[in-house]
Amino acid sequence: MKKEFSVVIAGGGSTFTPGIVMMLLNNQDRFPIRKLKFYDNFASRQETIAEACRILLKERAPHIEFSYTTDPEEAFSDIDFCMAHIRVGLYAMRELDEKIPLRHGCVGQETCGAGGIAYGLRSIPAVIEMIDYMEKYSPDAWMLNYSNPAAIVAEACRAMRPSSKVLNICDMPIGIETRVAEILGYEDRKQFDIMYYGLNHFGWWKEFKDTETGENLLPRIKEYIKENGYLPPSAISGAQHTDESWKDTFRKVRDVYALDPETIPNTYLKYYMYPDYVVEHSDKEFTRANEVMEGREKEVFTECNRIIANGTATDTSIEVEEHASYIVDLATAIAFNTKERMLLIVPNNGSITNFDPTAMVEIPCIVDNTGAKPLQIGEIPEFQKGMMNQQVSVEKLVVEAHVEGSYQKLWQALTLSATIPSATVAKAILDDLLEVNKDYWTPMN
Ligand code: NAD
Ligand code: G6P
Ligand code: MN
Repeated sequence: MKKEFSVVIAGGGSTFTPGIVMMLLNNQDRFPIRKLKFYDNFASRQETIAEACRILLKERAPHIEFSYTTDPEEAFSDIDFCMAHIRVGLYAMRELDEKIPLRHGCVGQETCGAGGIAYGLRSIPAVIEMIDYMEKYSPDAWMLNYSNPAAIVAEACRAMRPSSKVLNICDMPIGIETRVAEILGYEDRKQFDIMYYGLNHFGWWKEFKDTETGENLLPRIKEYIKENGYLPPSAISGAQHTDESWKDTFRKVRDVYALDPETIPNTYLKYYMYPDYVVEHSDKEFTRANEVMEGREKEVFTECNRIIANGTATDTSIEVEEHASYIVDLATAIAFNTKERMLLIVPNNGSITNFDPTAMVEIPCIVDNTGAKPLQIGEIPEFQKGMMNQQVSVEKLVVEAHVEGSYQKLWQALTLSATIPSATVAKAILDDLLEVNKDYWTPMN
């Protein structure tokens, strides 16, 4: 019989938790779970999600022992995996991350530019604290982290906990490959062999082949995206990335692609290549955080409350986050040594030969029971190297600023961001962000 696993979901109160639980249930044949725990530091928020999931689990998988807690010892004891998706400061702080830079005429975004830096400084201590809990209470466990901003969090893991068993992963390339599958008429993104390189939310595909035939699919993809970006010909299935603002992001890929017709890009590059466009097209009073608070957050909590009131989840509208099955791919690869090839955020270590070996890069890796082994990328072009050099220095300076409590380095980080035009603007944004993040950031001198 296969081994059965004990899993803690950190950020139990996340809007993504119910969909992830459904996805885990859908994948029980390949990743059997004996014990599932939720952990959060916001008891009442987690309780709503957890009580609904308790009902769901009782109906669909009564053999899984389920519990939820705000106590780290209880959460992190006797676990094999921690699946981490926390958001320190919740959507209220995401709203400020987006609105403060916008007020200064700069990109206001969850993970890119000044907003991403502010979020990063909130996430670092929380993620490091969870790693320490995990190592104290379950020293053999692995953390699969997709808490954002993954680029900065991953750099903090490298710099502060270099030997810890943490793998950082992002779903954006998966989301884009799924769109490409839809565009080209494939069933599944796993029918592609790809080569991709970059930083998190900052990368390019340089190969895209049919796994069976070996056909190079890039010419067909380019033909399509130079007109339509990654907007598929008909409505895409699944709940994620379907709001109007996301559609604009997928459409804008046309212009991002135009800068380098050799590769095809990650959507997030628009914030660095076209910050002026992004600012012009942002509503300074109603940003993505507002959209999510009025949309996904309300819907998820309303549905969970309905399940609790009815005492049943048989008719639930919660959709399986099947796209998130990459988390199971990752867990199974470690648990069963599957040697699956996956994009992960790992130390470059010579994979990109003409790039900083200590940079955290997003590249294909082979995952086995010892962790991730990066594939060789080789040399990258001057354009990508230049952009990545600048951005990786931003990410490193943020982590250094956190470790040293250095205002100076933080100012340098903001000044270096391609989303911010000058040191003057960087300082003005920084001072505003500092003010509202006092309870979260390490003190900066
Ligand atoms: P959310 O605010 O709904 O949920 C986050 C939860 O984390 C909240 O319940 C909050 O109380 C909890 N939390 C905050 N600080 C904590 C701490 N120190 N310890 C324990 N719990 C804590 O957010 P969401 O929109 O559902 O997103 C969750 C996270 O997943 C975010 O970081 C988001 O950026 C990330 N995400 C990442 C990817 C990816 O590709 N890497 C994809 C989707 C979402
Ligand atoms: C993509 C990214 C995530 C990010 C999410 C934001 O999936 O890979 O890192 O958190 O988009 O989505 P949202 O719906 O919260 O704006
Ligand atoms: Mn991501």
